[in-house]
Amino acid sequence: MVHKLIKLPYADDALEPLMSAETLRYHHGKHHATYVNKLNDLIVGTEFESKSLVEIIKHADGAIFNNAAQVYNHDFFWTVLSPKATTPSVALDSIITSQFGSMDEFKKAFIEKGLTLFGSGWVWLCIDEHDNLHIVATSNADNPIRSGLVPLMVCDVWEHAYYIDYRNVRADYLEGYWKLLNWNFISYNYSNHEKHRGDYFSNFCKDNTPYCDYVDQLEQMDEVRS
Ligand SMILES: [Fe+2]
Repeated sequence: MVHKLIKLPYADDALEPLMSAETLRYHHGKHHATYVNKLNDLIVGTEFESKSLVEIIKHADGAIFNNAAQVYNHDFFWTVLSPKATTPSVALDSIITSQFGSMDEFKKAFIEKGLTLFGSGWVWLCIDEHDNLHIVATSNADNPIRSGLVPLMVCDVWEHAYYIDYRNVRADYLEGYWKLLNWNFISYNYSNHEKHRGDYFSNFCKDNTPYCDYVDQLEQMDEVRS
């Protein structure tokens, strides 16, 4: 299986001024693309050559795991952003409010997790098998699927995600990230977490899944955040 760099579901400059076209061109076109290319080189002749991204993440180690996880994590990250203003579904709003106290408390806890993560990594909202939500920080390429959790949303807190626009001020980047959240996608992930178990991308635009319909809608939309 040849893994592909996903097409961004919006234009390079669609997230400005909170995330610049220059950032997207480097982050997606250079960093993310490099992980895809390295993964394709590394899996040749291995047991992972025909495996899905999620299968590789579950079972590989070392460089193959690192590059596969970085491909998955970035696929997730781009899709969790949108230039269009969205709101959480009633069901997602309800579970967040019941488990974190309010949407504001959830935001505070998520951003705090991002601020206190030492070095490079990712911050996730995940759900476990008992429908408990968890805000999880993972270092470098690590991914909560390895721990049996199902990811619902993610933030990239590697410096390459924010240095062009925010220099070293991670707090401002996290506030900007929050304003770009694609709550439609996060709500979709919550509604479908038992079905997909975090594997939202295996059939990316290969069939007519609801997810692909959704991405198609994103690609066609012409609204931008005011
Ligand atoms: Fe990144």
